[in-house]
Amino acid sequence: LPLEPTVMVIFGAVGDLALRKLVPALYNLFLDGYLPERLAIVGVARRELDDAGFRQQLKDGVDRFSRRGAADQKEWDEFAVRLRYFSGDFTSAETGTLLGRRLEEFDREWNSRAIRVFYLAIPPGLVAAAARYLEILGVCKDCARDRLVVEKPFGRDLASARQLNGFLTSMFAEAQIYRIDHYLGKETVQNILALRFANSLYEPVWNRRYIDHVQITVAETVGVEQRGGYYDTAGALRDMVQNHLLQILSLIAMEPPVSFAADEVRNKKLDVLRAIRPIRTEEVHRMAVRGQYSRGKVSCKDVPAYREEHGVVSESVTETFAALKLYVDNWRWQGVPFYLRTGKCLQAKVSEAIILFRPAPHQLFPAAAVESWQPNRLVLRIQPEEGISTRIQVKQPGTRLLLGPVDMKFRYNEAFRVTPPEAYETLLLDVIRGDATLFMRADQIETAWSVIAPILDVWEAVPPADFPDYAAGSWGPETADLLIAKEGHSWLQPDIR
Ligand code: BG6
Repeated sequence: LPLEPTVMVIFGAVGDLALRKLVPALYNLFLDGYLPERLAIVGVARRELDDAGFRQQLKDGVDRFSRRGAADQKEWDEFAVRLRYFSGDFTSAETGTLLGRRLEEFDREWNSRAIRVFYLAIPPGLVAAAARYLEILGVCKDCARDRLVVEKPFGRDLASARQLNGFLTSMFAEAQIYRIDHYLGKETVQNILALRFANSLYEPVWNRRYIDHVQITVAETVGVEQRGGYYDTAGALRDMVQNHLLQILSLIAMEPPVSFAADEVRNKKLDVLRAIRPIRTEEVHRMAVRGQYSRGKVSCKDVPAYREEHGVVSESVTETFAALKLYVDNWRWQGVPFYLRTGKCLQAKVSEAIILFRPAPHQLFPAAAVESWQPNRLVLRIQPEEGISTRIQVKQPGTRLLLGPVDMKFRYNEAFRVTPPEAYETLLLDVIRGDATLFMRADQIETAWSVIAPILDVWEAVPPADFPDYAAGSWGPETADLLIAKEGHSWLQPDIR
């Protein structure tokens, strides 16, 4: 169906997020023919700029960060006529009134009340001010044509998330608020749902009877880059676990939804978060560990210690690594540990979930035949080399009966010979279409905060004794190995070619 006329207003339009992610994503959607015929992208920021200067800055961003590489000038020019700049301070009522008039001009020109998407690509501290400004713009709670996109971090704990949700829902209907978790836009994250619910092969064994445990790893090679100031007040638990890792866990553990409607899917995901066994204060040390990197080498390059990074205080106790052991207390998952880990400056950039199955109930092969026997595992690789692989045991070639593991692999780029769209392409198009399935609802955000709240409290109250405790370029602190070794498990290091 052709999409309706749309105006996307980006607050913070010449900031890092807009340059690196939003505009390259919109440009790629344009090249692929997915954007509405009548579309305006209005950048709002304080900086004095005209349309031409704005377009040039965005083109530089696309040239540097688009998955397709530098833009073709002719194609860019066709796209760029849709870009407008509006210089203004969004705490001022006067600029609000002027922008409001500008938006009405589009409606008159197109002879239709356009869909208006307000994208808050601004620091969290400014979100409330910007939302007030939208009131001045006459954004209407009852108008499903007005949408608001909010980036993470969504609060810094349960209380602040509740406060922000309360504030936003006093001005907007929940259905108008699109809270972004960009992991949900990643192709392979969405594919978890397809794998589970479009195939009959896995669902019968997707439970405590057959699954021994689940490991979710989101490892990064980068440090805090230019974001030391923000990161030092956040840490890995807030920055990655509260959102991305718990969302992956929810997709793996959720019950089948009745339909693919946004709230059906979100309700089932919420059920998982609600079923996560609360961690008592006195058991935090047994359920979660933290780490911080010291100097080291990542991809053969020297990396400074976290405490030496720009914007980070020299005695910082912020964690750059976190590992958790969680249990989902419901019929399907009782007793199955879910291990989560994430960290900066680790050995490789890789995100994956591994489902480890229980051994076959009866071992009929002689011990000598099963020397290198391994349990079945299903690896959902989110990035890089997106794909899915299953490890099975087969007979090795030869006259001797010897069993060994092999992997059956599906790789996106081999199977489809295309590069999957970037997460922001998928998510921006969903906002324009009005599909909120892949966005976070207020209750999901708050429940996710309550899952990690006891850990945040204990970590804040008891400073770590041994930071920094892992070398940049390693797989994290030893304590993460001990965390799961207690259950007789060990982390499976990703298979990186
Ligand atoms: C962001 C975090 O949400 O996700 C960053 O704030 C992190 O610290 C990033 O680097 C990782 O995203 P991706 O898509 O590179 O895995």
